[in-house]
Amino acid sequence: MSTIQHASHIRAVVFDAYGTLFDVYSIGALADKLYPGQGAALSVLWRDKQIEYTRLISLSDPNPQGSRHYQSFWDITRASLRYALARLGLKHTTAHEDALMTQYAQLTAFPENLGVLQALRQRGVATAILSNGSTEMLQSAVHCAGMRELLSAVLSVDRVRQFKTTTTSYQIVTDHFGIAPAEVLFVSSNAWDALGATWFGFTTLWVNRQGLPAETIGPAPHHTGRDLTAVLQALG
Ligand code: LAC
Repeated sequence: MSTIQHASHIRAVVFDAYGTLFDVYSIGALADKLYPGQGAALSVLWRDKQIEYTRLISLSDPNPQGSRHYQSFWDITRASLRYALARLGLKHTTAHEDALMTQYAQLTAFPENLGVLQALRQRGVATAILSNGSTEMLQSAVHCAGMRELLSAVLSVDRVRQFKTTTTSYQIVTDHFGIAPAEVLFVSSNAWDALGATWFGFTTLWVNRQGLPAETIGPAPHHTGRDLTAVLQALG
């Protein structure tokens, strides 16, 4: 793990959801079962389109405070699945769509995650999720992953109808806890989310599970690591 700043001032640890706390591997595995040989391509395109739609909405909204174009992440996830299937020339069926969407609501945790959340609880550190995910899909995933008792709050961007990486979306956390951005350790496996959070002023940890290159614009995250145990190292 690389660390460029001590984090003894941290008062809450806040996690991104998909790919950070919840292992989305099972989606790719199911996709490959339903569309043999195409699971990896489908899940990558699906994820890329899902995030692209959040940005398209964020950039196109003439009235960000009113968020006229906002749709829930659940609806965006379904829409982007349909796009990805069409783009790859794969047959869409309601049964396959429902099976893949159901999987999204029933993800497991990465193996080290529950231990890390338990260690944070023992230290008395507040923990939360801040996710683009809509409230219901987050609650379902939290329940399936056995995290309900281990999180102080599950915060969805639904409440402001804006997606990360808008300032308003990250502000949900500082408003909820009543603390300054730098007192939050924000943890994400998405480099773009870690960058947006760093721009916002959070102390950041990028969990680079896939060994990807760092973003080539903006400031580096304050910490990087390969899995969630890096959170404990970052807290010192
Ligand atoms: C989230 C997605 C972007 O949980 O991973 O916000």
